Amino acid sequence: MKPFKFIDLFCGIGGFHQAMEALGGKCVFASDIDADCRKTYEANYGIQPAGDITKIAAEDIPAHDVLCAGFPCQAFSKAGKRLGFEDETKGTLFFDICRILEYHKPKYALLENVRNLASHDKGNTWRVIHDKLDELGYSLLPEPVIFSPHYIGVPQHRERVYIMCVRKDIGKIKPFVFDKNKIPACSIEDILQDDSEIPNIKDYRIPEDLERLIDLWNEFIQNIKVSKLPGFPIWSERLCDLDSSEDLSQYPDWKQKFILKNNELFVENREFITDWLQRARQNPLFFGAKAKLEWQAGQTKDPNIWNQIFQLRPSGIRVKVNTYFPALVAIVQTSIVGSRRRFLTPRECARLQSFPENFKPDVKQPQAYKQFGNAVNVSLVKFFAQHMFGEKPAIYSDLIKNKINYENSR
Ligand SMILES: C[S@@+](CC[C@H](N)C(=O)[O-])C[C@H]1O[C@@H](n2cnc3c(N)ncnc32)[C@H](O)[C@@H]1O
Repeated sequence: MKPFKFIDLFCGIGGFHQAMEALGGKCVFASDIDADCRKTYEANYGIQPAGDITKIAAEDIPAHDVLCAGFPCQAFSKAGKRLGFEDETKGTLFFDICRILEYHKPKYALLENVRNLASHDKGNTWRVIHDKLDELGYSLLPEPVIFSPHYIGVPQHRERVYIMCVRKDIGKIKPFVFDKNKIPACSIEDILQDDSEIPNIKDYRIPEDLERLIDLWNEFIQNIKVSKLPGFPIWSERLCDLDSSEDLSQYPDWKQKFILKNNELFVENREFITDWLQRARQNPLFFGAKAKLEWQAGQTKDPNIWNQIFQLRPSGIRVKVNTYFPALVAIVQTSIVGSRRRFLTPRECARLQSFPENFKPDVKQPQAYKQFGNAVNVSLVKFFAQHMFGEKPAIYSDLIKNKINYENSR
């Protein structure tokens, strides 16, 4: 498949572009509705993406061999199912992919979507997508492939659906087999920058009052006497005796369970928690979500938030074990690296998405985080494209070789 032409729909900052170009592809068209993404794309690839794809006629898009698209997942009309003749994809962005496929009939299409697409609408969404692509003349696997960068040692947990399509007259998509028992150990150290390399490091440091708040929660997690560290969320306002006038049955079962668990924890550690709460409540940050802790770093004899990674989420301070990061997300909940007492930098986000070191992120930081949070992992696109082109069998060692692109571009 060299050289070949590809188009990059819903292009974002070009995760597909990076991978396809590395495989010998030339981008002939890109589109994204977001003006900031278009600027970043142009700054990196010298191509000015078009805007809203729903407004672009298929005949205005140049001929191409590969269509790439990480498209937003939307529900399909139920009317089509009932009536049996209406196009079920109408009114969705997947419909726009279909009309371009129908007009240009490229040899291949590689699509990416959120994991939820596999189970969305009780499997109906996947069924519609599968059947439509099949009807358009493409060979694809009967089930969506769900894959995450951490399966190949990139320290980010980000399960996404990959859909590989081969035009039926060219061949048949090969089965994809992956042994999840062979997932390598990940380490966040692989992608961290040395603090001395980070310009304006102070912009990434967490504020001192937040440090004090984490110290408080650290004291809590290190001093409670428990047989197992709590796997349920710790809600400080519920670390108290039960109020007999409160009717717990007004709450859903899960909430009742957590209230009772918090109460048990309190009863078993009454003296320590009473004293701790008194001091914690003097910290001006100790309210709302910051007065809640979600310990998701497993069982350890020496729990210490500063040795883990954590995020400030609307549901509480979520602590995760320091092997891999939770998925980067477009909304700003940038992970904090405990051992460095700072947020992830945009360069580290680029590495988590296997973008090369010469990639120029948006100069506006919130935009840069958002764009990496929306992007597709470059190494995984490369791998699935190779599988789709039939160039390489899906063997694990190939994946590992593709592990982290930036290492090659340093
Ligand atoms: C999940 S992101 C894809 C990111 C991309 N694969 C990357 O590597 O950066 C989906 C993108 O679709 C874009 N989008 C949403 N609606 C669109 C439309 N009607 N036309 C073009 N782009 C659209 C969004 O702005 C967003 O950048």
